Amino acid sequence: MKNYDINLHVKGQSLFVDDISLPVGTLHAAVFTAPASRGLVRQFDFSEALAMNGVEKILTASEIPGQNQIGHVIHDEPLFAREEFEYQGQPLALVIAKDVNTARQAVKKIRLEFDPLPAVLDPREAFDKGQIIGKKRVFSCGNVDEAWENCKYIFSGRVESGPQEHLYLEPQGAIAIPMESGRIRIISSTQSPSAVQKTVAVVLGVALNQIEVDVMRLGGGFGGKEDQANAWAAMAGLACKKLNKPVKLILSRPVDMAITGKRHPYSSDFKIGLNDELKILAYEVQYYQNAGAYADLSPAILERTMFHMTNSYFIPNVRGTGVSCKTNLPPNTAFRGFGGPQAMFVLESAVFEAARQLKVSSMEIQKKNLIAEGESFPYGMKLKNNNVQNNFFIALQRYNLDAKLKKVLKFNEENANIKKGIAVMPVCFGISFTSTFLNQANALVHIYNDGSVGVSTGAIEMGQGVSEKLRMVASNVLSISPERIRIESTNTARVANISPTAASSGADLNGHATRIACEQLRDRILKAIPAFTKLPEEGKYLIQEEKLFHDGSETSLDWESMIGLAYRNRIGLTAQAHYATPDIFFDKEREKGIPFAYHVTGTGILEITLDCMRGTFQMDAVELVHDGGKSFVPLIDKGQLEGGVLQGISWMTMEEVVYSDKGKNLTNMLSTYKIPDMFSVPGEIRIHFPEADVYPDGILGSKAIGEPPFMYGIGIYFAILNAMLGFNPAMQVKYDAPLTNEKILTGLYNK
Ligand code: MTE
Ligand code: HPA
Ligand code: MOS
Repeated sequence: MKNYDINLHVKGQSLFVDDISLPVGTLHAAVFTAPASRGLVRQFDFSEALAMNGVEKILTASEIPGQNQIGHVIHDEPLFAREEFEYQGQPLALVIAKDVNTARQAVKKIRLEFDPLPAVLDPREAFDKGQIIGKKRVFSCGNVDEAWENCKYIFSGRVESGPQEHLYLEPQGAIAIPMESGRIRIISSTQSPSAVQKTVAVVLGVALNQIEVDVMRLGGGFGGKEDQANAWAAMAGLACKKLNKPVKLILSRPVDMAITGKRHPYSSDFKIGLNDELKILAYEVQYYQNAGAYADLSPAILERTMFHMTNSYFIPNVRGTGVSCKTNLPPNTAFRGFGGPQAMFVLESAVFEAARQLKVSSMEIQKKNLIAEGESFPYGMKLKNNNVQNNFFIALQRYNLDAKLKKVLKFNEENANIKKGIAVMPVCFGISFTSTFLNQANALVHIYNDGSVGVSTGAIEMGQGVSEKLRMVASNVLSISPERIRIESTNTARVANISPTAASSGADLNGHATRIACEQLRDRILKAIPAFTKLPEEGKYLIQEEKLFHDGSETSLDWESMIGLAYRNRIGLTAQAHYATPDIFFDKEREKGIPFAYHVTGTGILEITLDCMRGTFQMDAVELVHDGGKSFVPLIDKGQLEGGVLQGISWMTMEEVVYSDKGKNLTNMLSTYKIPDMFSVPGEIRIHFPEADVYPDGILGSKAIGEPPFMYGIGIYFAILNAMLGFNPAMQVKYDAPLTNEKILTGLYNK
C-alpha cells in the first residue's frame, strides 16, 4: 500500500514532461518577460536575437489567431502583454529555436523600449487607489456592533502573512505536438488538464475537441499548477500551430521562481471581544489580499479565506470583510490551504494577543471557544460528524500537555539563553471546491479480456498518492489484486470536463466515480454469469479475492475465466461513471449555504527550543490528533500529514520571498530562498487518529487529507513567540510571518 510511483521515482524511471522522448524536429521555446513592474511598450528590437544561428521565430501578442486571454475566473489576463505590462516577469514574447540553450540565449538579446509607469506593490495602497479585483466579500453572523457592549475585554491588532513559493520539484512546462487536420496534442505538467485544454483552444481560436491534453504525473503542484500551467501550454500550442512542428517549453528554475505567482500575502486587521469567562463574543476582521496583477484564482481563494475566518471556534457575532487587491506583482495563485491558512493565522494571532494581554495561556481561550456539533459557522453551515472538542482534549491528554508545560517552565527558569515554547493549534478545514460546480468527476474503466484493468479519471498524481488510492478503490470493489490494475494517464480525450485535482478532493471525487464505474462492471458481470455457465439463476453471486462465490460457496470460476467468458459472450467490459457531491450549495447574495461535503478537524501541539543568542530554533516535536476518518492507505496519509505540517511550519518561519521596491523577485534561487532541509524536520512527529471511524461520505470511509495538515504548522509561530517571551517578557509582539531567524533575533532584544 505504498505510493504506486515510489519504485519508479527511486530508480529515476518516472516520466515527467522533460523526460518524454521527443519527435524528430522538435523545436524549443523560451519566454521574454517584462523587465520592470509596469510600463508601456514602445517597441521591440528582435534583430540581434533573430540573427542568431538556430533561432526560428519570435512570437508576440499580434500573432495570436484566437483571443489573447488566459483568465478563467475573470477574463483580465493576456497571454502576452501587448501595450502595457503590469508586473516584472510578465511574458511579452516567445523565442523558438532549434535547441533550448539557443532559445534562452536569444531571449537575452531582445531589446525592449518602454515608458515606465508607477507601480503599486502593497495591497492596502492598491485598495486606497480603488484597485480591487472582483467584489468585496462580507460574511457575518449575529450582531457585532451590539456585541462589543457585552465584551469585558476588547483587543485589536494587525497581522501580516507572506508569500510562499510552491517549489514543486518539476518546473512548469509543456510540449505541443501537431496532429492531423490542425489538432494539437499537449503534454503538460498541470493539475487541471481541462483548463489547459480550454486555454490553448481560446488562444488558438479552435473548439475544445481540437486540443488533447495528456498528463502522466507531476513532480509536485501544491496548487501552483492549478491555473498557472495554462500559459506555457498555450505558448507551446501557439508556436506549434504557427510552425507546424512539435514545440517544447520548460521554464528554468530561476525563471519559474521569478515569474510565477505564489501563495497570497495578506495584510489584515482584527478586533476581538471576550467576556469574563474568556468566551469570544465578537470578532471583526478585514483582509487585504495581495492578488498581484491579474485575478487568476484570487476571488475563489478570498472566498475560502472568508469560510475559514473562525477556524475551529464558535463565535456568535462575526463580521469579516475581504478584498482582493490588484498590485504589480506576478498574479498570486492557489497554494495548499487556498486562503484558509491566512485566515486561521489572523484568528490565532487575535487569540494569542488576547491571552498575552490577559496574562493567560492561549489554550485557555482556545479551549473555551471550540465549536460543538450542531453549532454554525458564520456562513450558515452546521458542524456535524466531527468532534472538535474531543480532538483538542485527546491531544492535551495523550501528549501530556500539563506535564510538558511544567517541564518547559522549569527549563526556562534554569536556562538563561535557551528557551522552550509550546503552542496548540486546532484546525477545521472545509472539504469541497468552494465553486460548487467543480465538485464532480468522471471515471472510465476498462476490463481487458485477460482480466487486467485500466482506470482513467480526471485525477492528477502529483506525489499525493491519488493513483494508489484509486487503485485501492478499484481493487476493493472488484475484489481483485491491485497488481491487475493500472491507473492510466489523465487525458481529455478519455475523460472530459475535468475539475482540477485540488481542494483536497481528488481522491474523494475521482474515487467515487471509480467506485461507481467498478460497481457497474461487477454487477453487470455477476448478473450475466448464470446465462453462460451452468450455474443457477437464483441465489446471490459475489466476487471475493478473485473467486466467484454462489450463496456463500466457492465456484470453480476465478476472475480470469469469468472475464474470458464474459467477453466471449459479448458482455460489455467498459463502464463510465459520473459523480457529483450531493447536497452542497452556496448563495453568494446572502453568503450562506452548505458549501462543504464535510470538515476535516484535528489538533496539533508544537514544541520548540530557541537559541536566544542566535535567534535559531529547533523543532522538538509535533504531535497531532487528526480525524482522517478510516484511512485505507495509512502510509500515504501519514506522508501527507508530515509533509503538510512541515510545509506550514516553513511558510511561517523560513520561506521568505523578497521583492525589491521595483517589484523584482530577489529570491528566485535556492541560494536566496530557504526551504526546509533534514535539519528542519521535527525531532519527533507523533500522529494519532482519534477514532478510526468509517466516514460514510468519504471514499472507503476515509476523509480528504491533502491540505488540512498544512495548517497545524501555523502553531509554530506561537510556540516561538512563547519562547521569545520567556526570554524577554517586555518584547514588542508582532504578527508578521514569516518569523525568520533575523526577526527572532531582533525581536528578542527589542524593548
Ligand atoms: N502532496 C504532494 N506530494 N505533492 C503535491 O503537489 N499538493 C497538495 C496536496 N498534497 C500536493 C500534495 C494540494 S495543494 C492538494 S489540493 C492536494 O494534495 C491535492 O490532491 P488530493 O485532492 O488528491 O488530496
Ligand atoms: N480549492 C481549490 N481550488 C479551487 C477551489 C477550492 O476551494 N475553488 C475553486 N478552485
Ligand atoms: Mo490545492 S491549493 O487545492 O491545489
